[in-house]
Amino acid sequence: MVAAVRVHKPGGPEALVYEEADVGAPGAGQIRIKQHAVGINFIDVYFRSGMYPAPSSPFVVGNEGAGEVVAAGQGVKDFKVGDRVAYVALGAYAAERLLPADRAVKLPDAISYEQAAGMMLKGMTARYLVRRVHKVEKGDTILVHAAAGGVGLILCQWGRHLGATVIGTVGSKDKAKLAKANGAHHTILYRDEDFVARVKDITGGKLCHVVYDGVGKATFPASLDCIRPTGMFASFGSASGPIEAFNIGILAQKGSLFATRPTLNTYTASREDLLATAKDLFDVVSSGGVKIPINQKYALKDAQKAHRDLEGRATTGSSILIP
Ligand SMILES: NC(=O)c1ccc[n+]([C@@H]2O[C@H](COP(=O)([O-])OP(=O)(O)OC[C@H]3O[C@@H](n4cnc5c(N)ncnc54)[C@H](OP(=O)(O)O)[C@@H]3O)[C@@H](O)[C@H]2O)c1
Repeated sequence: MVAAVRVHKPGGPEALVYEEADVGAPGAGQIRIKQHAVGINFIDVYFRSGMYPAPSSPFVVGNEGAGEVVAAGQGVKDFKVGDRVAYVALGAYAAERLLPADRAVKLPDAISYEQAAGMMLKGMTARYLVRRVHKVEKGDTILVHAAAGGVGLILCQWGRHLGATVIGTVGSKDKAKLAKANGAHHTILYRDEDFVARVKDITGGKLCHVVYDGVGKATFPASLDCIRPTGMFASFGSASGPIEAFNIGILAQKGSLFATRPTLNTYTASREDLLATAKDLFDVVSSGGVKIPINQKYALKDAQKAHRDLEGRATTGSSILIP
């Protein structure tokens, strides 16, 4: 039995129950990991609240972590006991866990467990957003909503690293300072200012090549007015609630826009894509092009507080749990 945080019945942060859970020996193709650090993500809130369906009841919440392999099941060839690994997969809030070996990635020496737990999900998301959903080029202008958040701070840095002008929306003046220190050229206090007017002003009316929007309901459809003709609306999350159904004709009216609702799962579904995405992330972090600000650390037993902080917009950058 190991310490774990499970959901028996979906609900608010109180639905996170810190208790003992059985892990068992790894089956064929699985590894058992002793976790050194676990990432906290907004998707954990969607699973906890029931917005995303529970895989079983109870289930261990959490989708990102890093640790060392303590056992390998039959047929596992790529990993051995003692290997340092990281992953994105449901079942992370626990001291130890089982994982299909083909979802694990070996950690380079330069990346610590804590860094890995703070970046596998958020950083690989940023990578597919800037390299595949819209390939950011030197000279692009990009708008990043919730720029001081976990994905946000990584996106701002990576966008700037690729040569883009980065505009970030943020919920407070402190967050604006942080976003600026992490790559944003311009910040907009979107709770007080009309962000469309500010984007028009900053870009001299030219607008953005792409809007990366993890906020959802609260920034739609205004986000579309920030995109230049034939630009991309990348709606990758719903921190403020999901976007309601809309008439696709609005994309024509706003300038023949492209719109996508991508997920990391799709972009790392094959082993090849997972390894290529992780490698790019490890490279950009190891070279110092992108830093992973881990601004909140909690004990595993304090997962409820961690969720209250995340949903209460009280966090910046990445948050991790220490088992
Ligand atoms: N599709 C994918 O592949 C994928 C992968 C990873 C994450 N995501 C999405 O990316 C987004 C960011 O995830 P994250 O884990 O890095 O979280 P985060 O950005 O650290 O936290 C969410 C932030 O959203 C902003 N926000 C705006 N309205 C909000 C509201 N009503 N309630 C709470 N927060 C609100 C807050 O920043 P301000 O105070 O500055 O407004 C808050 O700090 C989420 O929507 C998540 O689901 C998607």
